[in-house]
Amino acid sequence: MDKDEILNRFEPQQDNLLNILHELQNNNPNNFLPTEDLKLVAKYLNTSYSAVYGVVKYYTMFSLKPRGKYVIRLCKSPVCHMIDTNIVLQEIKNNIDIGLGETTNDLLFSVESSECLGRCAEAPVMMVNEKIHKELDSIKISNVLDSIKLNEQNK
Ligand code: FES
Repeated sequence: MDKDEILNRFEPQQDNLLNILHELQNNNPNNFLPTEDLKLVAKYLNTSYSAVYGVVKYYTMFSLKPRGKYVIRLCKSPVCHMIDTNIVLQEIKNNIDIGLGETTNDLLFSVESSECLGRCAEAPVMMVNEKIHKELDSIKISNVLDSIKLNEQNK
């Protein structure tokens, strides 16, 4: 979708800033907000570039650099941490050879940490784009990642 089309779906009001940023980022094949998008939003909302930049930096769900098509978010909050997110992280590393804060060379996956994903009772959990995967163990993690890779190969 064209960036102007995205902007025009929203009234040019500050209240719409987060939704506009979300839409622009979701529309970007590399899952991030380039500088030109921040400038575009600032102009559209009649605010400063630094105000938009500040919001993007504040929220971990936004990225200023290219990320994988699939962003894996690992909960770093206490409950999941007690259950041991390091096991999940290690399994991800075994499978796609990247760690926290990294992106695969083919730009298919990125791994990030996140605040509580709201599924503490089913920990450990991870979110891949918008989908939550719960009660993770090695097999489940492998299945999720293998199925994404297979789907991408068949496109
Ligand atoms: S503490 Fe991990 S989902 Fe809530």
